This record gives sequence, C-alpha cells and structure tokens, in this order.
Amino acid sequence: MNLYIDHSQIIERVREIASKINQDYAGKTPIFIGILNGAFVFLSDLIREIKIDCEIDFLKLSSYGDSKISSGDITLLKELNCEIKGKDIIIVEDIIDSGLSIKYMKALIEKNNPSSLRIVTLLYKEETAKLDFEIDYIGFKVDNKFVVGYGLDYAQKYRNLKSIYML
Ligand code: IMP
Ligand code: MG
Repeated sequence: MNLYIDHSQIIERVREIASKINQDYAGKTPIFIGILNGAFVFLSDLIREIKIDCEIDFLKLSSYGDSKISSGDITLLKELNCEIKGKDIIIVEDIIDSGLSIKYMKALIEKNNPSSLRIVTLLYKEETAKLDFEIDYIGFKVDNKFVVGYGLDYAQKYRNLKSIYML
C-alpha cells in the first residue's frame, strides 16, 4: 500500500472547501447529504469547519459489493429522512469514479424539487467519470487508481486509516 494523499494535506483541503461553502451559503441553511458509508469521515471533518447553520442527513447506496469495479447496479439502502423541497442541498461524496452513483443521486434529489443542489466530492476521477454536469467542490482530482483510507474501503476494510493510500 503506497501513501497517496497525506492526512495533513486532506485536512488543509477540507478547510479550504469549507471556507468556500461558508462564503457561498452565507445566510442560508444548507442540508449536507452524506453518501454512506464512504463519505462519513470527510463529512464529519467538513461540517466541523462549517460556520453557518446547516443540517445533516445520509443516503446509502450499494453498487460495488466487495469488488473494485462498479456493477452498475445501484440500489438505495437508506432513504432520506429530511424534506428536500425548497431546501439548499449539498451532496457529499467520498469519490466519484464511474459517476453512476452521483448521477443516480442527483436525479433522486432533483425529483424532489430542492431550491438548489450542489455536489462536493473529496476525490474525483475526472477522466473515468466523463460527467455532463459540473462538480461544484472538488478536493483532489485523482488518476484511475483504486484508493483506500479516510473513509474509503476495499471490501469494507481500511476506512479507519487517516491518510489515503493506493492499493
Ligand atoms: P461510482 O458510482 O463508480 O462513481 O462510484 C462511487 C462509489 O464507489 C464511491 O462513493 C465509493 O464508495 C466507491 N469507490 C469508487 N472508487 C473507489 C476507490 O478508488 N476506492 C474506494 N471506493 C471507491
Ligand atoms: Mg461511496
């Protein structure tokens, strides 16, 4: 396992993103929707740098199983508990790879008529995802390599590592 992004670099970037969100959402009360399980570490560091009022909820999707490649088959394992209509929603992802999950979630949220919707992801495999919409806040653009740590798993392991490693 090789070190890819050191914990201190991650934390510095998380602070920069939070500061941008604080400015962009001044006077608003956004709802951060973390995508379980991977985004829980990033979300918990991110929201502790958020100075404006905000709410938190989670969605849980499944598509990878224990594989490194998306099956393309997305199922919703946990629904939202909050009201979306008329709210400012920020989806929080750990990593965008094929882009299938984020497309699915974007459509799901938009269907419920939010006042606004933005996406924040810690890692973005831009070349792999080829999305036809912008990602609003990106921690790091990464190569098409499988990475673990800081919430990211391989077969449910390594989420507890402080830094991000290449498998
Ligand atoms: P996508 O639907 O292919 O974009 O995959 C998104 C989800 O797959 C992410 O939220 C992660 O949970 C998982 N995933 C994608 N790439 C990696 C990786 O390199 N390491 C760990 N998990 C990953
Ligand atoms: Mg995930």
